[in-house]
Amino acid sequence: MAIRRTPATIGFVPTMGALHDGHLMLMREARRRCDVLVVSIFVNPLQFNDPGDLRRYPRDLDGDRLRCESVGVDLLFVPDSDRMYPDGFDTTIHVDRLTRGLCGAHRTGHFDGMATVVLKLFNLVRPHFAVFGEKDFQQLQVVRRMVRDLALPIEIVRRPVLREVDGLAMSSRNRRLDPEQRAQATALVAALEAAQAAAGRGERLSKKLIAAARAELSARPLVRPEYIEVVDSESLVPMTVVDDSSRILIAAHLGEVRLIDNGPVYPRAAGD
Ligand code: PAF
Repeated sequence: MAIRRTPATIGFVPTMGALHDGHLMLMREARRRCDVLVVSIFVNPLQFNDPGDLRRYPRDLDGDRLRCESVGVDLLFVPDSDRMYPDGFDTTIHVDRLTRGLCGAHRTGHFDGMATVVLKLFNLVRPHFAVFGEKDFQQLQVVRRMVRDLALPIEIVRRPVLREVDGLAMSSRNRRLDPEQRAQATALVAALEAAQAAAGRGERLSKKLIAAARAELSARPLVRPEYIEVVDSESLVPMTVVDDSSRILIAAHLGEVRLIDNGPVYPRAAGD
């Protein structure tokens, strides 16, 4: 990219489109920090383990263009599959231990496809930094590890989960929920809060925190939990007893829609 040869700072927000306020928050953060803001929209077939999910993934390029304009994006990069994966494409990025559990255990090949496209996008855009949300917490950690392991000259900026007024984490997939599913989808944030409240009361055993979270999900019949785990937020290894680095991650299905959410679970400090 010719801009890279100027002193301008390039900020980058990679997306799969169907942009919502959570994406716009990432873009505003990037806008604040850079001279040239690049956003990509590419629904990456390599990271969908389920062809039906890829087919149903929401697409709204016209609306997305307007949303990008509204936050001052300088360059919208919308590559097609042939450009990203020309005939003979034969390379995969695999971040190993961080992708074994959580979503990685349920979505075979997802993180390989994600890391591969992110590295390719980084090479095409050549940003100084890229902004990722904590909503896809495992993705964020996989990207951070790839950048560190491969010594990529890119800073990864992280931003917290942005939520709807009722607490549901913003996601492009939310627009595929019917009204009943949408009402019950708040079970995910209720589950996080139940675990956080139990930790706040002094409970330190992960299995008790997970049970508190599971009870919230079970109370909503349309919600089918996929996993609830308490892990170390850097290594993503499951923890038996929580400490200051613990995080609870949840995935659940409502009909054909798969949602994820996560948050920290701190033990109550002695004397609190
Ligand atoms: O989080 C997403 O939207 C995607 O996984 C990403 C990072 C754009 C890669 O396709």
